Amino acid sequence: MDVLEAIKKRKSIRKYLDVPVEWDKVGKILDAGRLSPSAGNVQDWRFIVVTDPGLRKKIAEASLKQYWMEQAPVFIVVITELEKIRKHYGLRGERLYAIQDCAIAATSMMLAAQSLGLSTCWVGAFEEGMIQELLGMPDNVRPQVILTIGYADEDPEPTYRYPLEHITLLNGYGGNARKIKDFGKVFWDHNIVGRAVESTKKTVKDIEKVTRDKRQEHTSKIKKFFKNLVKKKK
Ligand SMILES: Cc1cc2nc3c(=O)[nH]c(=O)nc-3n(C[C@H](O)[C@H](O)[C@H](O)COP(=O)(O)O)c2cc1C
Repeated sequence: MDVLEAIKKRKSIRKYLDVPVEWDKVGKILDAGRLSPSAGNVQDWRFIVVTDPGLRKKIAEASLKQYWMEQAPVFIVVITELEKIRKHYGLRGERLYAIQDCAIAATSMMLAAQSLGLSTCWVGAFEEGMIQELLGMPDNVRPQVILTIGYADEDPEPTYRYPLEHITLLNGYGGNARKIKDFGKVFWDHNIVGRAVESTKKTVKDIEKVTRDKRQEHTSKIKKFFKNLVKKKK
């Protein structure tokens, strides 16, 4: 699954099947977090994998009693080591980069999970102090995001998004900046690129099929040839 497909297919899932998540998939998801960019490459994050049912229940309780969370077999709690980012970037590091770094890592992990056939929900509503206590975190280590991960047991309708025309401005916010009304015209390649990607994918598939068929044809020809040769020798 390519990244655009993962972005399009992802939805917050709050009902999970009672099926464990394979460890190799958890590893791939964590690696997507590890490979994410961070301010100055400080990598001020840590990822706590939570599988213990008792702990999951307590975390759900600490997340303003969002008990649906418990069903997800895996949580990844993304935390930030404030001291690390503060040392490099002071207040801006603490107030902005720490949050952004963890958000990027969590987003990469969400999309990786999606591409592996798993579902997630981003949970931001929790009592920080309670999570810190449950996971043995000192004061200067802050929980930023809890991701629930598992196999979906629901298929909710996609939530509404404003159209691009509504949220995109050209060359600024106020003054001379203008809204882009006709996206098809202005971003002419917006659609063309999408279509080109789809048609390239189809072509690659077609080529693969033709190559496979040809290979089979050649293999059976060679087999026939050697069979005849053996027959003649006899
Ligand atoms: C910063 C942030 C905090 C969130 N916190 C919660 C939460 O505590 N509980 C929850 O059920 N969903 C939470 N969500 C999920 C949003 O409700 C969801 O992403 C949004 O409604 C759009 O729906 P979708 O993810 O299905 O596209 C959070 C999402 C973000 C980005």
